[in-house]
Amino acid sequence: MCCGDVTEVVVSCLGRYVVPGLGIYFVDREREVRYVLDWVLRGVSWNYVVYGPWGCGKTEFARAVTYAVEELNDFVFLYVDLTQSELHQAIYARYGVKELLLELVQRVCEDLLKFPLKVFALLRKLCEVYKLVGRYLVIFMDEVTRSLDRYRISIRDYVSALDKAIHEWRRELGLRNIVTVLLTSELSLIQYFRREVGKTLSIYEMWNLSKSAFMRLLEEVKCPLDYEILWRLCGGNPRLIYELRNVYAWDVERWLEREIVRCWSLYSMIRRSDVLLKYLRSVVEEIDSLAPIPITEELKQQLPEVALTQELLRQNMVIPLEPTNHLLSEVPREEWIGREWAWQVPLYYYIFRAILEKEQKPTSETILREVST
Ligand SMILES: Nc1ncnc2c1ncn2[C@@H]1O[C@H](COP(=O)(O)OP(=O)(O)OP(=O)(O)O)[C@@H](O)[C@H]1O
Ligand SMILES: [Mg+2]
Repeated sequence: MCCGDVTEVVVSCLGRYVVPGLGIYFVDREREVRYVLDWVLRGVSWNYVVYGPWGCGKTEFARAVTYAVEELNDFVFLYVDLTQSELHQAIYARYGVKELLLELVQRVCEDLLKFPLKVFALLRKLCEVYKLVGRYLVIFMDEVTRSLDRYRISIRDYVSALDKAIHEWRRELGLRNIVTVLLTSELSLIQYFRREVGKTLSIYEMWNLSKSAFMRLLEEVKCPLDYEILWRLCGGNPRLIYELRNVYAWDVERWLEREIVRCWSLYSMIRRSDVLLKYLRSVVEEIDSLAPIPITEELKQQLPEVALTQELLRQNMVIPLEPTNHLLSEVPREEWIGREWAWQVPLYYYIFRAILEKEQKPTSETILREVST
C-alpha cells in the first residue's frame, strides 16, 4: 500500500471510532491525522510535543488514531494515559498488543508513571513476543509531565534522554521508523519544552474543532440549543459540549453561571491592583498584549503582569499560539484569537468584557445577549 492509500484508509477508519461518554462517532480531525501519519511515514525518528486548549480533544484524537491504524499490519500505535489509575483504561493498542503491554507494564514498571522512563526496556520485552521489526511505531504518552513531576526529572533531562535514545531504539529493534508524541495540557510548562527545540523535538499545537466540525458534533449529539450561539461561547471546544450535555442537561444558563463565577473571582483579586486592572483591560481589548512568559524565576517574580498571565494559563483561559507551520489544526480567524495568544474558548473573552464594561458581575442572560448580537 502506498503512503497516500494508507492515509486515506486511516482517515476513513477514524470516523468509525466511537467516542465514549458521548456515544457518537468521532468527528473530523482529518488534517491532524495526516500530520501524524506524515511524521511517521517520512521516515525520520523524532519526538513531538502536542498541546492545545483544555478539552480540545487531544486525548480522544490520540485514541482514535490508535484505533484507526488497527487493521494496518505495518503500523503499531501505542497509547498510554498517565493520568489513569486503572491500568486497563490507561493503555490502548490494537487487540493482542494491548494485552501484552498490560502484562509487561505490570512486570517492568512499579507504577504506570514509570512508563515514560522505561519505554525502551518495555519495547525490548515487547519485541521478544511481538514482531516489531520492519514496522512503523508511534508511542503516544498522554500528560507525560505527570511522570516527570513524580520522579523529579526535568523536561530538559527527559528530552535529552529521548534525543539520544530514539535513533538507537530504531536501530536496535529494527523498526522502519519510530515517533513519540508527548501530549500535555500543562501550558505553564510549554516554555520549558520550547527551550529544547533543536534537539529531535518539535512542538505542535492542536486547536478546538473547526466551525463545520463543531456543527456536525452538535447535530450528532442532538443539541437542542442555538448552534451559532454555542460557537460564540465554546469556539469549537468539544469538552464544553460534553459537559453541557452530560452534566448540565443543556441548561446553558446554569453552565454559564459557573464560568461567570470563575471569571468574577479572578477579577475580584485583580481589581485590587491598578496595574493589573489596566493590564487586564488591555488584554481584553487586544489578546496579543499578554506578556510572554520568561523562564527565569527572578523575572517571573518581578513582573506582576507575568503572574497574571500565568494565572490565566493555569486556569486554562488563554493559550500561546505556535507559528503557522506548527499548527496541527487550523486556527480560525475570530475576534477571540490573536497572532501570538488566544482565549482558549470565547466565553472568557465575552465574560471579562462584560465585567470590565459595567464593573459588576454579569448574569448569564447578559452574556447570552452579548453573544447573540
Ligand atoms: N473529534 C471528536 N469528536 C467527538 N467528540 C470529541 C472529539 N474530540 C473530543 N471529543 C469529546 O470531547 C471531550 C474532551 O476531549 P479530550 O479529553 O480528548 O480533550 P483533551 O484535549 O485531551 O483535554 P485535556 O486538556 O483535559 O487533556 C471527550 O471526552 C469527548 O467527549
Ligand atoms: Mg487529555
